[in-house]
Amino acid sequence: MAERPYTLLSCGMSIDGYLDNASEDRLLLSNTRDLDRVDEERAACDAILVGATTIRHDNPRLLVKAASRRRRRVSLGLPPHPVKVTVTAHGDLDPCSRFFATGDVEKIVYCASDAVRRTRARLGQVATVVDGGRPVDVRRMGEDLHARGVRRLMVEGGGTMHTQFLTADAAVELQLVVAPLFVGDSRASRLVGDGAFPFNADRRAELADVRQIGDVVLLRYALSERFGRSEAV
Ligand SMILES: NC(=O)c1ccc[n+]([C@@H]2O[C@H](COP(=O)([O-])OP(=O)(O)OC[C@H]3O[C@@H](n4cnc5c(N)ncnc54)[C@H](OP(=O)(O)O)[C@@H]3O)[C@@H](O)[C@H]2O)c1
Repeated sequence: MAERPYTLLSCGMSIDGYLDNASEDRLLLSNTRDLDRVDEERAACDAILVGATTIRHDNPRLLVKAASRRRRRVSLGLPPHPVKVTVTAHGDLDPCSRFFATGDVEKIVYCASDAVRRTRARLGQVATVVDGGRPVDVRRMGEDLHARGVRRLMVEGGGTMHTQFLTADAAVELQLVVAPLFVGDSRASRLVGDGAFPFNADRRAELADVRQIGDVVLLRYALSERFGRSEAV
């Protein structure tokens, strides 16, 4: 059987389950201490994945911020930052966005088959564009990433990506940070959309850890028997 990376889903949400508000600006849910924890998690991964909407909306760098963590990675023979990965059906991504323009690391775009040609024309100079099928299948993408050497993958949203990894039963761990605020606007993105989730009333997920970090709380869920196995960088 083809192998897939240890896949960790990471996100912050409001008390009412939103990843953001409905405005143009990104809503900051986390706090400084928790962002530092996320940086540590990033530094322990081979690759970080976000959906294309998150790139368009948030314009994230997805780099390891702390110099000491980058040095540690380099001392282990790794690139200073994890590989960046995204998924798109249409390929409508700006090659000058921070995702592509920052960090001297490989960027991989899994693109739906019918948009591969135009996406290669647009992003081929700044990323490796891979035909991911139509739509891109997250389990197959995981197998392809494993074949490229990715052993630990961190998925940082948005909700569309979390939904697919969860419903495909392709996540090992969920790190969910709950921020002490409500969004109260159904136009905003939720943690997940509709779907048949493997964890439900008949099969509850295992709550592995609860930690208060300042004014937020981190919940760690074990979603597979692989949970906690040492596959960190
Ligand atoms: N709080 C947090 O931790 C956090 C983290 C990240 C993001 N966010 C928020 O989440 C929101 C974005 O979430 P979202 O759910 O709307 O979008 P998303 O998951 O970031 O991206 C969705 C897009 O990814 C592509 N895609 C996803 N699955 C695909 C598949 N199987 N095949 C082909 N393409 C696929 C499509 O791109 P194309 O449209 O290009 O075809 C789709 O429109 C933003 O508001 C952002 O601020 C919050």
